[in-house]
Amino acid sequence: MTKKLFMANWKMNHTNKDAQAFVDVFAAKTWLADTEVAICAPFTVLHTLQKGLKNSACALGAENFYPAAQGAFTGEINLEMLKEFDITYVLVGHSERRDILGEDDALVTEKYWQAIKEDITPVLCVGESEAVRNSGQAEKFCEGQLRAVFAQRPTSLAQKDVIIAYEPIWAIGTGKTATVEDAEAMCAHLHQVLMYLLENEKPRSLRILYGGSVKTENVADFMKQAHIDGALVGGASLKAESFADLIAEGSGAHG
Ligand code: PGA
Repeated sequence: MTKKLFMANWKMNHTNKDAQAFVDVFAAKTWLADTEVAICAPFTVLHTLQKGLKNSACALGAENFYPAAQGAFTGEINLEMLKEFDITYVLVGHSERRDILGEDDALVTEKYWQAIKEDITPVLCVGESEAVRNSGQAEKFCEGQLRAVFAQRPTSLAQKDVIIAYEPIWAIGTGKTATVEDAEAMCAHLHQVLMYLLENEKPRSLRILYGGSVKTENVADFMKQAHIDGALVGGASLKAESFADLIAEGSGAHG
């Protein structure tokens, strides 16, 4: 059985001083080696995390990148630059980038396949707004976000890790979570849609994470569900002690 994956999304938080304080505590928690953990962090702290977590089992991820090899894209950062920090993952299609920064399905799709091409695992975020959920269209909406990316596959996904994060927008940073039943139903649906979209192409692994106000108190209930393979955690991942507590609760490991 694949282990549950606990992924932090620090968003626009933490200076290098904060990141160093985090790793000083986090790297000492040797039991984390029995779990699967990753931190997606701002570009500016990746070097600090790379150094501080070098001998730990915690992987690194970026929160964004520009999907071109190089060139005249003032202010942007590409995957080749990010590989210098030994990143394994990159977030793609987070609702904050879709809604605040105007990223549409076309750009999300381009980013997804550029990451695959460069052998970095994209974590594709999908999720509906409250209005969409209330209209009964949540599954259809998230399915559409998947179809946009996977309808055409420029590169084979065989032997790649496919990770989707289901994050209902109304649950992000609000303290409200989806009910465990709704989250499980959505993740099961997305799993089925993906199997259909990928046809005979078998990825090395296929995981669906839940995100949206995950914390130590509720993580275990989500992780007990058959189709929830991990968590994407924002607010509750910022402090090393509490993120470690959350992982211990969610994985059954001993903190
Ligand atoms: P949250 O954020 O845990 O603070 O709700 C999750 C996310 O946006 O990835």
